[in-house]
Amino acid sequence: MMSEKKELTAMYWRDGRLHLLDQRFLPLKSEYRSCENCSQVVDSIREMSVRGAPAIGIAAAYGIVIAAGEALAKEYSKERTLTALEEASADLIMARPTAVNVSWAVRRMSKLLLQHKDSTAQQIYDILLAEAEDIHAEDICNNRMIGLNGAEFVPPKASVLTHCNAGALATGGYGTALGVIRAAEEQGKDIHVFVDETRPLLQGARITVYELSRDDISVTLITDSSAGHLMAMGKVDLVVVGADRIAANGDTANKIGTYSLAVLASYHKIPFYIAAPISTIDMSIETGESIKIEERSSSEVTHFNGRQTAPDGITAFNPAFDITPAKLITAIITERGVVCSPDRDKLDRLF
Ligand code: MRU
Repeated sequence: MMSEKKELTAMYWRDGRLHLLDQRFLPLKSEYRSCENCSQVVDSIREMSVRGAPAIGIAAAYGIVIAAGEALAKEYSKERTLTALEEASADLIMARPTAVNVSWAVRRMSKLLLQHKDSTAQQIYDILLAEAEDIHAEDICNNRMIGLNGAEFVPPKASVLTHCNAGALATGGYGTALGVIRAAEEQGKDIHVFVDETRPLLQGARITVYELSRDDISVTLITDSSAGHLMAMGKVDLVVVGADRIAANGDTANKIGTYSLAVLASYHKIPFYIAAPISTIDMSIETGESIKIEERSSSEVTHFNGRQTAPDGITAFNPAFDITPAKLITAIITERGVVCSPDRDKLDRLF
């Protein structure tokens, strides 16, 4: 008897709680962690139970709903509720600083809150919940559009290289870079995907390979340092990755190692694409130089799976992201269209 595959989802909302797939344990364990207060959502983002720019934005929106629910249950005054929500917003934004999607989602929730500040606490809760659900649903639609827009750049039988995880589990569903790959595959292009393992937390090996193999998409896992060799062998037709924040001029922050891939792709004359929703574009930041790069614990590098792999007392430099300059990017693929050779004017026109 055929067993039906369960849909892959980073999170779902049920009975006033946010349920987050704890991605730290994939692919060996697929367990959901239930958050009933906002600080659990903040911790889940910081500890990377939920990760990926759009996914943490959506989780943050639900985090605000949970904070509103806590205020409602404690029968806070209107003033105290608004202060509690402001504090929750600040904590969520601080949890991971590079991806703009958290502040984008929190700002969207705050704007609505301001419009309805004279409503009852219950009404505010209902309005915020509906908005968080909209943000979640819109992200899935946007990813489908990104997929369709991007699939045009994927030739039949192409070999595609991707880095980290910009898939269903990094978003509301379907994925951005993996959305492009999925759409190309759905169009019968019969592509092959090389996936960087993505040190130090192995999002490529643990999550992207898991997603693609579940979808029966042909995939080969490589070490990060094999990418140049693979390109030199003529085995890569294009690179597609996601983004955590795109500056107004097109400079893009994404998982550490993305910049090296872009340099390699440029040297080998291989097209290099960024796939991201326009909520990832931060027009308030002129260039990538102003993007704050999150630095994570050195133990993520000195240890592997709980085992020490470097001598005692060694400190590792562990930036979670890097910046790829716009001039190395062939095109940015969004739900509103594709921006080739991105610059400020072209990105401005998207809005
Ligand atoms: O540290 P992570 O796993 O949150 O990093 C994720 C990435 O860098 C993704 O490529 C990016 O967030 C885009 S997800 C659609």
